[in-house]
Amino acid sequence: MNGYTKGQINDENMTELLKAICEKGMSEKETILLTSAMLNSGNKIDLSELGDCLDKHSSGGVSDSTTLIIAPIIASLNLKMVKMSGRSLGFTGGTIDKFETFGANTSISLENAKEIASKVGAVILCQTEDLVPADKRIYALRDKTGLVASLPLIASSIISKKLASGAKIIVLDVKYGEGAFMENLVEAKKLARLMVKILKKHKILSCAVVSDMNQPLGENIGNYMEVKEVINCLKNNNESRLLTLSKTIASLLVAMKEKIDLNLATKKVDFAVKEGLAYNKLKEMVLAESGNLDMFKDEKLSYIPVACETLGYVSNIKTKELGEITHELIRIKGCKGVSILVKVGDKVGLGDEIIRIYAPKKYADMFYKKYLNCITISKTKTNSLPLIYDIIK
Ligand code: URA
Repeated sequence: MNGYTKGQINDENMTELLKAICEKGMSEKETILLTSAMLNSGNKIDLSELGDCLDKHSSGGVSDSTTLIIAPIIASLNLKMVKMSGRSLGFTGGTIDKFETFGANTSISLENAKEIASKVGAVILCQTEDLVPADKRIYALRDKTGLVASLPLIASSIISKKLASGAKIIVLDVKYGEGAFMENLVEAKKLARLMVKILKKHKILSCAVVSDMNQPLGENIGNYMEVKEVINCLKNNNESRLLTLSKTIASLLVAMKEKIDLNLATKKVDFAVKEGLAYNKLKEMVLAESGNLDMFKDEKLSYIPVACETLGYVSNIKTKELGEITHELIRIKGCKGVSILVKVGDKVGLGDEIIRIYAPKKYADMFYKKYLNCITISKTKTNSLPLIYDIIK
């Protein structure tokens, strides 16, 4: 790791090593050592002046805006979160891109971030340039060479960054499903267990949620639409899979930090959302980073509805493809994203509205069939999908 970071080992040799790791795997001990070597390639952030900070991490999915809900909940309960995030990666969305949709400036210094966290409670900022330089280079190489889907490589990449970020209490959200990096449930649970084990070795209080990504987490896809959904969740306490998962992760964090029973932590979190404390905190967070929530005030957006062409049950939703298509759509000026109005297991009839495309008609028409094909309808009844498969402590 040192040799590669310093440029003494070239990309070809590193690619050979990464290939070998992808093919043969690594023992637990080797993964732990690899994580430490990556962690030691850069500086560790010291957040001790803020007390024990909380953090969460999602392994990446479609319509996953949990950070924008969890951070204000945590801050509204007088706890601290300094959240370093990345931008969109492939078909997955990025917290930074979403937070910037509020007009917020996330390219702030660590000192500024600490100041905001001490006043407001939570802050979201772009990963600093020198956060685990080994991961920065190796990640780019993995992306280029297609060597991404490896348990030890994913674990060391995520955990080295978490350890360098300075939080003392962390909940990992490991996504399993067709719209995630882990498409196999057994492997997803293995990854979750491995990551929690490494964090605990470094004396970080942690646990992992293994959650579903066989359909988009929220109803909306596309930064603008997702941010509108976040506001709606916190303002109106609308029960949804997105809000339920966010509240679960927040409750696990609160329970670990305050050393209280999970039921009591859940009550505190529910109160923060129901009473609008978390919504007010989101407004404060956005304002502290020079953004403004007012641009989202009850504006009605026009959309093109996509109608179901058969009757039956939703048996499958091509989540990854929905993410990819929407990335393409929102690159066009005036196109905001989509709402997916159905979930796996829903009964649908001929002509039922199943998707809304928030785009001018000429562009929506270009994408109409692609979106329609992402929803599979079958004649046989299909069960709905669980939201959480496991919580690993
Ligand atoms: N997220 C990361 O930070 N690294 C990986 O390898 C996969 C997801």
